[in-house]
Amino acid sequence: MNKRIYFFDTTLRDGEQSPGVSLNIKEKLEIARQLTKLGVDIIEAGFPIASPGDFAAVQAIAREIKGATICGLARAGQLDIDRAWEAIKEAGQPRIHTFIATSDIHLKHKLQKTRDEVLEQAAWAVKYAKQYTADVEFSAEDAFRSDLDYLCQVIEAAIKAGATTVNIPDTVGYATPDEFGKFIADIRERVPNIDKAIVSVHCHNDLGLAVANSLAAIQNGAQQVECTINGIGERAGNAALEEIVMGLYTRRSFYQKEVKINYEEIYRTSRLVSSLTGMKVQPNKAVVGKNAFAHESGIHQDGVLKERTTYEIMNPTLIGIHQNNIVLGKHSGRHAFRDRLVQLGYQLNDEQLEAAFRRFKDLADRKPEISDDDLAVIVEGEILRVPETYTIDYFHISSGSTMLPTGTVRLRRGEEFIEEAACGDGPVDAIYKAIEKITGWQGTLVQYAINAVTGGKDALGEVVVRLKDQQGHIFIGRGVSTDVLEASARAYINAGNKLEYEASLGHSNGKDRDGV
Ligand code: KIV
Ligand code: ZN
Repeated sequence: MNKRIYFFDTTLRDGEQSPGVSLNIKEKLEIARQLTKLGVDIIEAGFPIASPGDFAAVQAIAREIKGATICGLARAGQLDIDRAWEAIKEAGQPRIHTFIATSDIHLKHKLQKTRDEVLEQAAWAVKYAKQYTADVEFSAEDAFRSDLDYLCQVIEAAIKAGATTVNIPDTVGYATPDEFGKFIADIRERVPNIDKAIVSVHCHNDLGLAVANSLAAIQNGAQQVECTINGIGERAGNAALEEIVMGLYTRRSFYQKEVKINYEEIYRTSRLVSSLTGMKVQPNKAVVGKNAFAHESGIHQDGVLKERTTYEIMNPTLIGIHQNNIVLGKHSGRHAFRDRLVQLGYQLNDEQLEAAFRRFKDLADRKPEISDDDLAVIVEGEILRVPETYTIDYFHISSGSTMLPTGTVRLRRGEEFIEEAACGDGPVDAIYKAIEKITGWQGTLVQYAINAVTGGKDALGEVVVRLKDQQGHIFIGRGVSTDVLEASARAYINAGNKLEYEASLGHSNGKDRDGV
């Protein structure tokens, strides 16, 4: 059996289909760059026909990213495949990923097609994609709920038509590990030309079994796994890449597989995706959760202090979590600051570095020790972002238990300063109303969340907001500060600047369309 396992990351496609997630082109590029550092084999960059925004992002990734195969998704139809190819054709290693459902439920209710029609369309789509590129992946959507004999016929036909990878999704997360492992083994046994293609799996997490099912498939001959960072994706999400990688590594004597992942980039990738998507990682999440390496009970703490492996099966430094990371304070200079950012893996241009340094100094005046986590939220949340149409010059708030909160805000737009005041239900509402008076933004705030970045009374507060414009597009904004009102104002301005940026590009981000 082959030892090498290929990682197909679909954070930018299936992951971006998570409810409430919406990434702009800069953010998608940033994630794609990080996925390359992580060493994934294939990046599914998007679904080009879904929207002009999706198309532009896939094309930008195909143009820039080297070292990974860049994949575009297409339904099994001419227009989809043409559009996918147009978006990825400049990639060093382009892949077209075409799919059609094969389960009777989907055939009857969604496609209204017979089994023969779908069989024919699958083979046709692969052949059509093949005229553009040698690397064609075929997926049988809802494969696990399909009739096995029929599924095997479709897979055989797809491989005969030229598919170099055949993907077996558990689209609705229905399988259990034993069944799914056997399912993959059966397919391998029954499809006569299966050795001519890579067998891939794509597991959803509706029953919390996506990672277990993917590992069971690997044990039974799957060579490619499709997954997302932090397990984000439709509904309950997809299989989490970091969990599969660390399962294969930690239990390597059991699985005996080889991967090409740079383990040290795992934590940073998780944080970046969480920060840009606004999807918090649950504290008890395996591998990358805040508590994954925290020991609360005295017995455990004592054990770990005597010998780490008593209660830790993975070394946090392997995945890039470094303890004792309090590094900088208000006396730290530019050089120390820049060196630390480089060590953390950030490559900022001079302008970004200057902006980050100014924010760092500003925060260091109010918070004596700035940790790596603090630096990460400054850089990821505030610096690596869209052009700032508006910046905050100052704000002032009057509030109390017996008065109506009133906010005064002065924003800068280019060389112009604009000031407005407004009353609100609370101080944040007052600030937001004043900002709206200045900018004319008419969106609805669909989410406002606040979190402490690190512990202690002087912790940075991180505010994440989701702003929905009148067409229903979502813009995620983040702001950090020791002052939660300032963080709130920054988050709102960040979301609004993204709205301005998308409008200036003439298209909106991915969420102006249906996903798969
Ligand atoms: O879940 C699924 O079946 C998919 C396919 C498009 C691969 O996402
Ligand atoms: Zn999926």
